[in-house]
Amino acid sequence: MKIEGLTAIVTGGASGIGAGVSQVLSNAGAKIAILDRNMELAEATASKVGGAAFACDVADETSVQAAFAQAREALGAPRILVNCAGIDTARKIASRKTGAHAIGPMQRVVDVNLIGTLYCCAQASTAMLDLEPLDEEGERGVLINIASIAAFNAPNGQSVYAASKAGVVGAALPMARDLSRYGIRVMTIAPGLFDTPLAGTMDEALTSQLLRRALFPKRKGKPEEIGALVQHICENQMLNASTIRIDAGFF
Ligand SMILES: NC(=O)c1ccc[n+]([C@@H]2O[C@H](COP(=O)([O-])OP(=O)(O)OC[C@H]3O[C@@H](n4cnc5c(N)ncnc54)[C@H](O)[C@@H]3O)[C@@H](O)[C@H]2O)c1
Repeated sequence: MKIEGLTAIVTGGASGIGAGVSQVLSNAGAKIAILDRNMELAEATASKVGGAAFACDVADETSVQAAFAQAREALGAPRILVNCAGIDTARKIASRKTGAHAIGPMQRVVDVNLIGTLYCCAQASTAMLDLEPLDEEGERGVLINIASIAAFNAPNGQSVYAASKAGVVGAALPMARDLSRYGIRVMTIAPGLFDTPLAGTMDEALTSQLLRRALFPKRKGKPEEIGALVQHICENQMLNASTIRIDAGFF
């Protein structure tokens, strides 16, 4: 699809990867709706990239419905959804020192990273169903979900985060099957380590240990590098129902 003039919703677009994606899509001519629970930052990023900000907790059904309705009213129905909202947790499933992993933080990570992603896909694709196709192939829109290489190969302490991201990876194929008749594609991006506030909370020893496992280059990625991949996925119709790792060869 040609991005120019289309509405793109970016969840978690206030910060890090979402902010980078918003900037790249805006540069390509999209109308950007940033949906984020941090409104102060969302407003600042929206004004930087030339978009609009809407308050949203992706784990809350009413909040998501309201934010999607407001974004649609202001900018028109979305043709592009990029789900970047996410949270991390680092805790062993059990250890003698800390005991059993508590259920509350498990639930929140799954609610935000997995259920929030799926529900935003449901909202965005519903809005796309009644739109006219963009071309003679019948394409109506694209959903792009940010998972993580943790879905495939996560260090210790990341069982809950990894499970939430593996769920996102697993959902892409059946979602793409559900939506193919309407000309809506679904793709997943699995980043390695990227330079964002979220990654900045990781302790330095773990960060350098992870960077040593990258083949080349041994550095954190830049959010705009994911933005460039998002742009390519939007523009390349042959990409559907799969996951692309963007991780400098992390094993
Ligand atoms: N940074 C990395 O190295 C890395 C690697 C792999 C995957 N990821 C994934 O990429 C995504 C973006 O991460 P980031 O590093 O840019 O983090 P970040 O903390 O910089 O940005 C995340 C954004 O999501 C928002 N958010 C969090 N919970 C929300 C909720 N319930 N509702 C709405 N908005 C919410 C935050 O306010 C923030 O603006 C996450 O899903 C993360 O798991 C990041």
